[in-house]
Amino acid sequence: MTAAALTLDQVSHSVAEAGIEKITLAPLSRTFAPGKFHVVGGPSGSGKTTLLSVLALTVRASRGMVLWGQENLTRMKQPAQANWRRQNLGLVFQTSRLVGVMNPLEHVRMAAAIRGRPEAEQEGIDALHALGMGDRLGQLPAQLSGGEKQRVAIVQALCARPAVLLADEPTAALDQTNAALVAHTLRTFARQNNAVVICVSHDRVVMDAADELLMLTKA
Ligand SMILES: Nc1ncnc2c1ncn2[C@@H]1O[C@H](COP(=O)(O)OP(=O)(O)O)[C@@H](O)[C@H]1O
Ligand SMILES: [Mg+2]
Repeated sequence: MTAAALTLDQVSHSVAEAGIEKITLAPLSRTFAPGKFHVVGGPSGSGKTTLLSVLALTVRASRGMVLWGQENLTRMKQPAQANWRRQNLGLVFQTSRLVGVMNPLEHVRMAAAIRGRPEAEQEGIDALHALGMGDRLGQLPAQLSGGEKQRVAIVQALCARPAVLLADEPTAALDQTNAALVAHTLRTFARQNNAVVICVSHDRVVMDAADELLMLTKA
């Protein structure tokens, strides 16, 4: 894993709606330094999910560029972008999809196997315990609550040790105590691995845990 900063240089995004340009992300320049827990807030519709999609290279910025260290990701060809994603990116969504026939233990085992990091299995188990999931390791997703599934998805993403972790409202289904635990876990992960962690959240406890806070406003 290589540590680098993720930079937005005058990035904006807009869509054409009935021939009229609708701004979905107002122009933004920002450097997300490695080793820090970055939290992005702002009202619904201010472009938080669009921002994460641009950073994940799944949505192309209408203007500006995304840099990884000195490397211009925006200008890369599609296969090189896919390669960058595979090597560096971890994603956690608001509602995470788990494999229906696999329990949390098997999810971390799979994540460790895919990455060729057998030691990640124990790390994942420890993280599940730390997030209050110690007694849920053998339950299938159908028997887990939304908040429990979210925590499995977070731990699974961390097992890959991504250089960049993007999380879209990962604590939406959690109470304040568990949201604070997740925030602490993400911040510790950033610091220990010198990773860029960017988390969209409305949660007070998550914002309070931020090293850097970015508030988006509606265009
Ligand atoms: N593909 C799209 N086509 C049209 N409008 C979109 C599209 N994606 C997002 N938007 C609009 O862009 C704005 C920002 O959306 P989003 O990034 O989802 O905001 P947030 O995550 O902060 O709630 C919203 O007004 C939304 O309706
Ligand atoms: Mg959103």
